[in-house]
Amino acid sequence: MTSGGTLTSQPVKRNDPCPCGSGLKYKKCCMFKDVAESIMPNKNYYRRHGIRLKTPDQVAGIKRSGRLVLDLLEMAGKLVCPGAVTGEIDRILHDYTLSAGATSAPLNYRGFPKATCISINEVICHGIPGERALQEGDIVNVDVTTILDGFYADASKTFRVGQVTPEADHLVEVTRECLRRGMHAVRPGNTLGDLGWAIQSHAESQGCSVVRDFVGHGIGLEFHEAPQVMHTGRRGNGIKLVPGMVFTIEPMINLGRAESKILRDGWTAVTVDGSLSAQFEQTILVTGDGFESLTPYEPEYYLKPV
Ligand code: MF3
Ligand code: CO
Ligand code: CO
Repeated sequence: MTSGGTLTSQPVKRNDPCPCGSGLKYKKCCMFKDVAESIMPNKNYYRRHGIRLKTPDQVAGIKRSGRLVLDLLEMAGKLVCPGAVTGEIDRILHDYTLSAGATSAPLNYRGFPKATCISINEVICHGIPGERALQEGDIVNVDVTTILDGFYADASKTFRVGQVTPEADHLVEVTRECLRRGMHAVRPGNTLGDLGWAIQSHAESQGCSVVRDFVGHGIGLEFHEAPQVMHTGRRGNGIKLVPGMVFTIEPMINLGRAESKILRDGWTAVTVDGSLSAQFEQTILVTGDGFESLTPYEPEYYLKPV
C-alpha cells in the first residue's frame, strides 16, 4: 500500500466539482475518461498549464521504471562507504540499469557526462561522479533517473558515510522529513503552493534554508515536464492538483544560506557559503484522494501521517 492522504478525505467522484477549480463537474473536466484519452492526454490541463495528465497505463509504466530506481538506490546504499569512488558507484549503477533493459536519463542529457548524479557535502545537486573517494563523515546524495520502455522515474536519497557530525545528521533528517511533509500535502484540490509551504515551513522551523534555484518537475513521458514544483510557497497559491498528475518532489535543504553557484564544470551546484546541503526525491502520482509514490522507498516512514 503506497497511497497517502487523510483518513477523512473521499476520492473525487464523477459528478463532484473538478478539483482543478474550473467550476465544471470532474467528469466534464480533468477526469480520465476513455481509451481515446490514453493516446491523447487530457486537453484541459495540457492547454492551460502544459501538464500531461497520465493515463492508468502510463502510470503503470512509470511505476515499472520506478521499481528499477528503487533497486538502484538500494544498491547505492550498499556501495556507499569510506573509500568508495563515486565514478565506480556510477559505473555499477549504470551497468545494472542496462542489464535491466533500461537506460540512464542523465547520461548525455544536455551534455551531462555520467549516468547518475552524486553530490557530496556542500554540493547541492548535479555532482558529476569521478575520481573522488567518499570519506567517513561525508553526506552523499545519489540521484537516479531511469528510462524503461519510454517511461521515466526519478528518485534520490542522501546517505551518511560512516559516522557524521550531529549537524550533518540533523540536516539529513530535516530534509527527509521535508519530503515526507511535501508528499502528504499532495491531494486533489490542494495546490503546489500548499506543497511548497509544507516543505519550507518545516525546513525553516528547524534552522535550515530551502534552495530556490532548483525545483521538482513533472515527469513520466519526458525527463522534465511541466509543472515546475517549487519547494517554497504559500498556502493556496499555484496550480491545483488533480488526479493523474505525476511530478517529483525533491527538496534541497542547506544548513546555511540558500544561494547556490555552479562550478566551472558547468554542472556541479554548490552552496555559496560552503555549508552542507542534503536532498531526498521521489516521483509522486496525484490519486483520487491523496498521493501514491511511484518510487516508494521507506514506505513505513513516508506513509506515516504528518
Ligand atoms: N535527476 C535530476 C533531477 O532530479 C536531474 C539531473 S539532470 C542531469 O531532476 F543532467 F544532471 F542529469
Ligand atoms: Co528530479
Ligand atoms: Co533526480
